[in-house]
Amino acid sequence: MKQMLNIALPKGRLGDKVYDMFEQAGFECPSIREKNRKLVFENPETGVRFFWVKPVDVAIYVERGAADIGVVGKDIILETEPDVYELLDLKTGTCNMAVAAPQGFRDNQSRTLRVATKFSNIARSHYASMDRDIDIIHLNGSIELAPIMGLSDVIVDIVETGNTLRANKLEVVEYFAPISARLIANKSSFKFLYDEIVAVTSGLEKIVEGEEG
Ligand code: PRP
Repeated sequence: MKQMLNIALPKGRLGDKVYDMFEQAGFECPSIREKNRKLVFENPETGVRFFWVKPVDVAIYVERGAADIGVVGKDIILETEPDVYELLDLKTGTCNMAVAAPQGFRDNQSRTLRVATKFSNIARSHYASMDRDIDIIHLNGSIELAPIMGLSDVIVDIVETGNTLRANKLEVVEYFAPISARLIANKSSFKFLYDEIVAVTSGLEKIVEGEEG
């Protein structure tokens, strides 16, 4: 019997979009469309077993081999640096990592800059590259609130439409990393399930190119 390919997808809007791409590439699994609370769906005919994972956890499943491949945002790859192969840019879920601050903010270089973020490692290395002293305030969401309430001077966060910044009277100071969804693979799965993984990767690549062109 053919070995099933275990695929971790990020639960949510991005995951739904990405599943559509797998389906178009010929790796469909119709049971995934059922509206229920199940987390694992498989289709022995196409040899795929999908499961829904919290977006930040996808790389953990893949790195440890509980999933052979998965889809994760570049933001999470940059933040957690998982030991996996990055196979393909799916060119969806695109946004930018940015520094943002209250409108009119001027950085006083003589003071330590207070930076609120979910992405502490990304923020730390960004400011280290500029030799700027910072104090990281790690938060888990609603980052835009921090400068409004005086908890931080700036934030480092992803900006997609910019609506959240505008609604909270913040503005981008600088964009410094483009983000999009990436297909990643477990390193030993890539060896042992090489043909299966390459088939999925090239199938998805065609879909990405089709959507671009
Ligand atoms: C993300 C991000 C920004 C917002 C950016 O938050 O942290 O807050 O989306 O999108 P926009 O530029 O289109 O407004 P998310 O919705 O994940 O919620 P969170 O605040 O709980 O992290």
